[in-house]
Amino acid sequence: MLLAIETSCDETGVALFSEDGKLISHLLYSQVAIHLPFGGIVPEIASRKQLEVLYPLVKELLTQNHTEISQIKAVAATFGPGLIGSLLVGVSLAKAISFALKIPLIAVDHLQAHLLAVFLEKEIEFPFIGLLVSGGHTALFLVKSFSEFYVIGHTKDDAAGEAFDKVAKLLGLPYPGGPIISKLAEKGDPTAVYLPRPLLEDKSLDFSFSGLKTAVLNYIKNHSYRVEDLCAGFEEAVCDVLVYKTFRAVEVLKVPKVVVAGGVAANKRLRQRFREKAFNTGVEIYFPSLEFCTDNAAMVGLLGYKQWQEKNYADLNTEAYARAVFKKLSIP
Ligand code: KG4
Ligand code: ZN
Repeated sequence: MLLAIETSCDETGVALFSEDGKLISHLLYSQVAIHLPFGGIVPEIASRKQLEVLYPLVKELLTQNHTEISQIKAVAATFGPGLIGSLLVGVSLAKAISFALKIPLIAVDHLQAHLLAVFLEKEIEFPFIGLLVSGGHTALFLVKSFSEFYVIGHTKDDAAGEAFDKVAKLLGLPYPGGPIISKLAEKGDPTAVYLPRPLLEDKSLDFSFSGLKTAVLNYIKNHSYRVEDLCAGFEEAVCDVLVYKTFRAVEVLKVPKVVVAGGVAANKRLRQRFREKAFNTGVEIYFPSLEFCTDNAAMVGLLGYKQWQEKNYADLNTEAYARAVFKKLSIP
């Protein structure tokens, strides 16, 4: 079996995969309640909690599945990008298990794992355009195989999820902002509050969300509004930009297949808007189911398993990394 570990941020995830690559079981511990009073994630608290939770969670996973640690034949962990203190907890445990059991250590990239999470439920043929929209990242990729990822556009400032979180904070709503804004937006009129669509005129496949957050701040200061309408107007602006840029990538690269992944891919309105556009243009569209959009170890295990098969191993000197490492592809 393969053991997979995810500790890149405030979620502790562990997963078991069978030797033929099937997800057996996964567990997730979320720290959301702990960070709630601070209105966002406090990195030092996140890493200390990871340290407290991870090993007991691994033991629980093994117990629940009547598995001895000696049955683990490979161990995969998220090595980055993410909060370095949190990452180090998962990476260190994976290294210790690999060293003690003399089994392969596999370094998984968190962003690549998000982009492939959809394979937990469906086999899709490559290549596809991957839109990764999470709390830490917003980027468009050309994904050519389980090991070939090229960035074709990315955010110049805030990530889409970060914009949801910051707007929620401006409105006095709890962290994380995405789910609560989405819920309020359902009761709002998306045309009542018009906000800018950053970089929509720009020919690049890059994004920018910090101006949108400032526009929300100015709107709050200068207008009276229903919070539901403001949430709907904001969500619609984010959706417009994400849909437009992704389908521009489809056109430019002539790849009529899209995967949307990451925490923001859980957004109902976003899924609906992408489905409508895909239907109208004859493009295939895929999303992971909700539990695999946000951080989890199942997606880490899926990619870890592929790397295991390819003997793509890390060694004990391989370091965790906080920032994303991208292979860029210039587009016309
Ligand atoms: O992928 P993820 O769990 O963690 C990172 O790798 O960042 O994404 C978390 C982000 C948060 O910013 C959260 O507000 C956003 O995903 N999110 C959503 C929704 N659910 C989570 N954003 C919009 N709508 C949602 N339903
Ligand atoms: Zn993530």
